Amino acid sequence: MQIVFSTQQWTENFFSSDQKKAVESLEGGNILHFPQLAFALKPEEIKFLSPEYADPQAKNIGYNPKLNVLWGAQRLSDDERIKLKAMLDRFSQSAYNLVRNLLPHYVNSIVMARTSFRPVEISNRKTSYRKDDKRLHVDAFPSAPNQGRRILRVFCNINPHGEDRVWRVGEPFEKVANKFLPKISNPILGKSALLRLLKITKSYRTLYDHYMLQIHDRMKADEHYQINADQQELRFAPGSAWIVQTDHVSHAAMQGQYVLEQTFSLPVSAMKNDAHSPLRILEKILKRPLL
Ligand code: SIN
Ligand code: FE
Repeated sequence: MQIVFSTQQWTENFFSSDQKKAVESLEGGNILHFPQLAFALKPEEIKFLSPEYADPQAKNIGYNPKLNVLWGAQRLSDDERIKLKAMLDRFSQSAYNLVRNLLPHYVNSIVMARTSFRPVEISNRKTSYRKDDKRLHVDAFPSAPNQGRRILRVFCNINPHGEDRVWRVGEPFEKVANKFLPKISNPILGKSALLRLLKITKSYRTLYDHYMLQIHDRMKADEHYQINADQQELRFAPGSAWIVQTDHVSHAAMQGQYVLEQTFSLPVSAMKNDAHSPLRILEKILKRPLL
């Protein structure tokens, strides 16, 4: 379920035995937990620990480290905007350093995606069931098809009031897939092309994306499943970090405020053992290629 590392620095070097353990555990659906890996804020950044800078319409404040673009934020002066970007940029570099040193197997193929800052308390956030991350789910995005690529995320709890990030972690992906796939039919012919044409999706929604999105939605919609599926509570204290492949680890974020997160995208071909990927697991169950 979780593998604990005593890492204290984002630039730490690892023994090859730790690197091997990390990649195998991660691909096997475990969470890599770093209870002593804090992300230090600069004095001028402390003020960002407030929900007031988050646009109420957006779930998170987002940042694209490649393009230096921020979104989902409000009420920032020009100077504050620069400072918040610098904070997110520093986190994205820290997350990259950790991934590079701990998971060198991925270093030539991993792609840095967006960074997020989540300053809104989760437990009292009201949303539609599809957007409700308090329900167990695997990650899949309606407008941004992954086309089989893995979603690898680095989180760090920067809560200044001692509040843990509380997750529920559910059953292994293969069990999830076996439960929900029989209820899912093929996409309507031409739908993916139309979604692309209308620019509703940023790239073509493959069969893989169709099934992942359906699994995501059906998991969240199933009240009985939410309560009765095998699950366990995990708590991430302030000053701790964790790495998880959220496309195959069933998870729900129940409580907490102020977390930083960096997303990476990884081709299935870069995995040490691609049989663990949701793509290969779905293909095995459905007995057909999905890309
Ligand atoms: C999620 O990926 O569902 C939310 C995780 C979090 O914000 O802790
Ligand atoms: Fe999620």
